[in-house]
Amino acid sequence: MTTTDRAPAAVERAAELRAALHEHDYRYYVLDDPAISDTEYDHLFRELQTLEAEHPDLVTPDSPTQRVGAPPLERFGTGDHLQPMLSLENAFDEAEMAEFDRRVRERLETEGPVAYCAEPKLDGLAVSLLYEGGMFRRGLTRGDGTTGEDVTPNLRTIDGLPLRLRGEAPPARLEVRGEVYMTQAGFAALNERQAAAGQRIFANPRNAAAGSLRQLDSSITAARPLLLCCYAVGVVDGSDLPATQHEVLAWLQALGLPVSPERRVVTGLAEVHGAYRDLAARRAELGYEIDGVVYKVDDLRAQRELGYVARAPRWAIAWKFPAEEQTTVLRNVEFQVGRTGAITPVAKLEPVTVGGAQVSNATLHNMDEVVRKDIHIGDTVVIRRAGDVIPEVVRVLPEKRPADAAMPQMPADCPVCGSAIIRPEGQVAHRCTGGLFCGAQRREAIKHFASRRALDIDGLGEKIIDQLVDTGLVAHVDQLFSLRAEEFARLERLAQKSANNLVNALAAAKRTTLPRFIYALGIREVGEATARALAAHFGSLERIMAASEEELCAVPDIGPVVARSIRTFFDQPHNREVIDALIRQGVTWEESEPGASDRQPLAGCTYVLTGTFSGVTREQASAALQALGAKVTGSVSRRTTAVIAGETPGSKVDKARELGVAVLGEAELEELLRS
Ligand code: IVH
Repeated sequence: MTTTDRAPAAVERAAELRAALHEHDYRYYVLDDPAISDTEYDHLFRELQTLEAEHPDLVTPDSPTQRVGAPPLERFGTGDHLQPMLSLENAFDEAEMAEFDRRVRERLETEGPVAYCAEPKLDGLAVSLLYEGGMFRRGLTRGDGTTGEDVTPNLRTIDGLPLRLRGEAPPARLEVRGEVYMTQAGFAALNERQAAAGQRIFANPRNAAAGSLRQLDSSITAARPLLLCCYAVGVVDGSDLPATQHEVLAWLQALGLPVSPERRVVTGLAEVHGAYRDLAARRAELGYEIDGVVYKVDDLRAQRELGYVARAPRWAIAWKFPAEEQTTVLRNVEFQVGRTGAITPVAKLEPVTVGGAQVSNATLHNMDEVVRKDIHIGDTVVIRRAGDVIPEVVRVLPEKRPADAAMPQMPADCPVCGSAIIRPEGQVAHRCTGGLFCGAQRREAIKHFASRRALDIDGLGEKIIDQLVDTGLVAHVDQLFSLRAEEFARLERLAQKSANNLVNALAAAKRTTLPRFIYALGIREVGEATARALAAHFGSLERIMAASEEELCAVPDIGPVVARSIRTFFDQPHNREVIDALIRQGVTWEESEPGASDRQPLAGCTYVLTGTFSGVTREQASAALQALGAKVTGSVSRRTTAVIAGETPGSKVDKARELGVAVLGEAELEELLRS
């Protein structure tokens, strides 16, 4: 037999095998109803692999064999979502859920019960998949909601993700959203393999899923047990969406996309509760982690009517499960010194898994809490962890207390610098009096100064700062700017290239804004919002530094305690010296007239007006908004703050919804103008 007469048979057989494997994938991953055993599947798969190896031109991009990963990337590219990826509002109890349902009915002007599609809230990471002509083209992580990381080669390795949509006429373009996650069993097996290979152990299935998807080498992703579950559509072209969310999910499933088998329609609050209780009760048996139930108004027309606020739809909510609790033994209490010298007692625990993560430390907040909760070393304690927040000790089980258990005592001297510890009158926290003499406070102050929301010094992470402080290279933030690349390069594990990058990042960070600079100083009680308010009110650092407590109190939201703290900070000669040194090093920002932005509360906002209003003309509304500092434009873009719609609005409202831009009504316009 010659190759020429064998090839047609091979072509046919390859197509047959591909079709069969696609069908089996669909039955296994989407319908959860496999028709053949794993061994039979492997047989077919290997036959196709062999055929393709013999005839490389038979390989198609959607072949099931093409999930092995692509050559490693240097770094991820980025891509824009066709429609922004939104987040969900949360409800934490029945009352908040009832309040959500009430708001939905009020806005829809309906008395009767509302039908919701209830779906488990999967705890993985959100992705957006783009299909064109039925073929999987691109996949992005959520990123900032507008732009995400392009993880297409990694996503292609996920078995449950169809490389080609099913059916005769898939939509010309489909942007579909879903969660990439891992089962608990897959997670455990992965960690076992990691441990055996001396590789990194993941804290929980969500971290494992995220870490696996974000691999520059997609052949690593290919070996990870990742799953996909789709739950929403971004953009669809060339096909009409069904009328309801539950039908959308069925439609996605028919296209070959995996959706949750737990989805169901519930009507009215009683059934909403029922679905919640049911999933909460079966949570442990599902085999994968969920952290609540998502409810979406089922009728898509009603969804459009409800629209969006800021970054979340008004038509959906996540009713979260309560934080998970566990008991363990408190071995010791240590005292940590924070940026402002506040001393926090930290519980050192017998390690235990709570809410999917290993916990061995928990905060005890302050000594009042220790006394109130009657916490003794050696106690069996109940700890709680909710989402990503720091675990805390909820209560002790006194019946399990050993006879020799003692209450922890606040030391007299700072464990880091040996300075006296005091408890200022009227405050709950104990403080180290060492100020910037204290290594811990210095370290934390520098970390804060460099952090993303402060001067945002790219690459200057905790480990590097620790070394800079430990080696005595930097005692005050201004000294960062005189460091040379050679000095950085001498630090442990810092390559020359990173050292150069750091010097460049420091140079770039010198151009900042007044609010960032004030925030970066780390003045007690002055967070980002207060820093912005101070900058807006006074316009210049000099005026802020010269302001009396009384003058400071004239700033919106600043009270006597904050005013005192600001005054105290600037009265310290040491702090003034550091500020002078920073300016000498070339740190700059733009200043403005005092109160310039007080009178312009809408500065930086852009609105689009559409439709007719009953109280004002569009021109009047436009002029009034502009007088408050807003920009008013004629077309909607991602940068639009909100579209304000009167009666019979035009297509701008549709456009806004498409882009996830907020849509306000006349009542909200009036409210804005009153601001
Ligand atoms: S819908 C506009 N449905 O939760 C609606 N999200 O807090 C946007 N999530 O980023 C999301 N399960 O990663 C939706 N059944 C589900 C979900 C779900 C998990 C995640 C998703 C989203 C986050 C929002």
